[in-house]
Formats: sequence, C-alpha cells, structure tokens
Amino acid sequence: MTAHKILKMGNPLLREQSILFEPDEITSVETQELITDMWETMDEFGGVGLAAPQIGVSKQLAVIRIEEDNERYPEAKKSEEIVIFNPTITNLDDTLQGFWEGCLSVPGLRGIVFRPRKVQVDFLDESAKKKTLIAEDFLATVFQHELDHLFGKLFIDRIDDITTLSFEEEIILSFSLSINVSDDLTPPCSIP
Ligand code: NI
Repeated sequence: MTAHKILKMGNPLLREQSILFEPDEITSVETQELITDMWETMDEFGGVGLAAPQIGVSKQLAVIRIEEDNERYPEAKKSEEIVIFNPTITNLDDTLQGFWEGCLSVPGLRGIVFRPRKVQVDFLDESAKKKTLIAEDFLATVFQHELDHLFGKLFIDRIDDITTLSFEEEIILSFSLSINVSDDLTPPCSIP
C-alpha cells in the first residue's frame, strides 16, 4: 500500500473519460488495494476526495471523506467514508451554490464554482452493492467535483467568472476564512 503521485493539470489522463468497472472486478484484491492506496494518497495531501484518474488510473472510482478540521476545508461538515464506483448523478435542486473550489491536481489555486445544491448519486460501493446517496450543501459540491474527474472535467472548466481564479494565499489575505454561505449566494460565498 502506497500513496501515489497526483497528476497535475496539463496531464492528458486528467482529460479522459474513464471506463466503468465490472462488478466482479470491484471485489478483486487488486481493486481493493487500489482503494487503500486512494485513501492513503488523499490523506497524505489533505484532500476531501480523490478520483482514480488523479493517480493515473482512468477508471470510474472516487473516494470521499470529509473530516472535521480538514486543513484545506476547515469548516466543512464531517461526512462518512464513501467509495464510489460507476456513479450516475441526478440534480435534485436547481438552486445553485458557490464555493471556493480547489483540487489536488490544481495545487495552490481556488476559484468560485456554482453547482446545484442537492444531488442524488447512484453508484456501486466497495462490495459492488448498489447504493443511492443524497448529498446537500458542500458535500453535494464535493460529489460533483469528484465525479467530474471521471469524465475528464476539472473545476476550472466550471468557473463562471474566471477573475475569481486565485492563488490560495491571496484569498486568505483578501477574505475571512470562515464559511458563510450567503442567502443570495453572491460570491465570495464561502472559502471551504
Ligand atoms: Ni479535484
């Protein structure tokens, strides 16, 4: 089990549509080891989610876990540990919410991305069982961000106002670090 190198923006593997897993492939020793490596890699770099293409595996797998006091997103609510294979995502609410998104493949940068505030995700878990999860608020954004990786998308593709694309240290200098999602969702809504 080892932490892997994370591919950075510009690597063409991050722009590929990744392929589906067969159910019996999910429970194989090789894939279970890949899951362990994904957690180790994510934890080493302090992320709240990681998608397999980010470590050069162009397959539909992502892991998500938001811990309290996460360094990169200190005020995000804690989540369970979620392993996602072959997901499909359904928008449950057209209301958009904006967050200062970042990505381990785009180190040092953040930008405000607006996404639906509530989504349903259907997927297979690490035992290849069908699961449905409804995510709201910041967790909904994390799901959409990670699942985008499986389809070759990065958060920078989703930024409406490119002038918000900023180095983290400049955001910290310019704004308070607290998450205050305003009612009208006028940026800057939050700095997760
Ligand atoms: Ni990312």
